[in-house]
Amino acid sequence: MASDLMDPASPKKRIAVLGSTGSIGTQTLDVVRRHADRLELVALAAGTRVEVLAHQAREFGVRHVATGADGPEALCSLVQLPEVDVVVNALVGAAGLKASHETLKAGKVLALANKESLVVGGDLLMPLASHDTLLPIDSEHGALYQCLLGEDRNEVSRLWVTASGGPFRGKGISKLRDIKPEDALAHPTWNMGKKISVDSSTLMNKGLEVIEAHHLFAMDYDRIKVVVQPQSAIHSMVEFKDGSVKAHLGTTDMRIPIQFALSYPQRWEAPVPPLDFSTLGSLGFEAPDRHTFRCLALAEEAGRAGGTLPCAMNAANEVAVAAFLAGECGFLQIASCVEAVMEGHVKERVESIEQLEAVDAQARMHARRLLGG
Ligand SMILES: NC(=O)c1ccc[n+]([C@@H]2O[C@H](COP(=O)([O-])OP(=O)(O)OC[C@H]3O[C@@H](n4cnc5c(N)ncnc54)[C@H](OP(=O)(O)O)[C@@H]3O)[C@@H](O)[C@H]2O)c1
Repeated sequence: MASDLMDPASPKKRIAVLGSTGSIGTQTLDVVRRHADRLELVALAAGTRVEVLAHQAREFGVRHVATGADGPEALCSLVQLPEVDVVVNALVGAAGLKASHETLKAGKVLALANKESLVVGGDLLMPLASHDTLLPIDSEHGALYQCLLGEDRNEVSRLWVTASGGPFRGKGISKLRDIKPEDALAHPTWNMGKKISVDSSTLMNKGLEVIEAHHLFAMDYDRIKVVVQPQSAIHSMVEFKDGSVKAHLGTTDMRIPIQFALSYPQRWEAPVPPLDFSTLGSLGFEAPDRHTFRCLALAEEAGRAGGTLPCAMNAANEVAVAAFLAGECGFLQIASCVEAVMEGHVKERVESIEQLEAVDAQARMHARRLLGG
């Protein structure tokens, strides 16, 4: 249990936030601000926005900080600090894997936003985790986690992961050719960091989430379904053997799932206005378009194949998304690059962090070559 790990002299959960200057990081700090009687920040880490980090450290009286310039080892030493009970991993990309691994190895609670940790290293992380020590922050997985509370996993028939469909929902391939980064960054329902915004527009984000759900809930890929729910009011659903379906609904504000991961097993006052069903209007559902948004199908294929293929797939995607954001490749090249790197990868069984780092580096090199970098 999370509470067993806490210092009995301190009634507050003591938190380290990795990626504190980002979208999830700043929203986590907002949750801490609102629940200062129950939560205490003890360590912070960020990449390049050092001024913002210093300001955060001063506001919350945090003594332990690290920046990207200090290297990955500095992040690992933060999560190992004896005064840390819970680590919020809000780093972006496979760069978050090592910190997730160290957090679970150190017996701390991992509140995980960094889905790439599970996509790349789920085979290594899950054996170290339990129901109470790995709490998902991703809204879909937080929703599934809550729908599964108190249920017998053997009675679950399917997980339904909802997707907004992204800003290009309903468009055909010909309309996607000239998409610019600013179009992809304009997400219809969520306000997020740049990498996940592009992933949402390609539907890669949903593919990563399918792999994340597979690991978190030990569910076969055949029993994980994706459905587009454009209003993002339903955050995901669990279907049971008897045909009953439990859905999790709520306001589209990441502070709700962030707070749940920090308040669990309790529920605290909501940081945002609740959903108003009298003004919500209708809820739509449709199948995702895997033909146009090939990244979803590619990620599902990588997940089903397993081993090191999701790691190579994820690395190629990170390189292609960065190139797209830098204006160095087109929107449709993201999927072609991911596909070509997957085809060139010789899958192995996942054995160690070092092996995954090597696969990641090789796939990045391949992707850069393909994109002419
Ligand atoms: N945003 C959302 O609503 C949302 C929802 C669900 C899941 N997620 C997941 O949460 C994760 C974070 O997403 P985000 O949208 O919050 O991303 P973001 O806004 O880009 O923030 C990323 C954070 O990571 C830090 N960082 C990057 N490289 C680092 C390094 N080498 N060392 C230390 N810190 C580093 C950044 O620091 P600097 O900015 O200072 O460089 C920033 O604080 C992603 O895995 C995403 O998929 C996000």
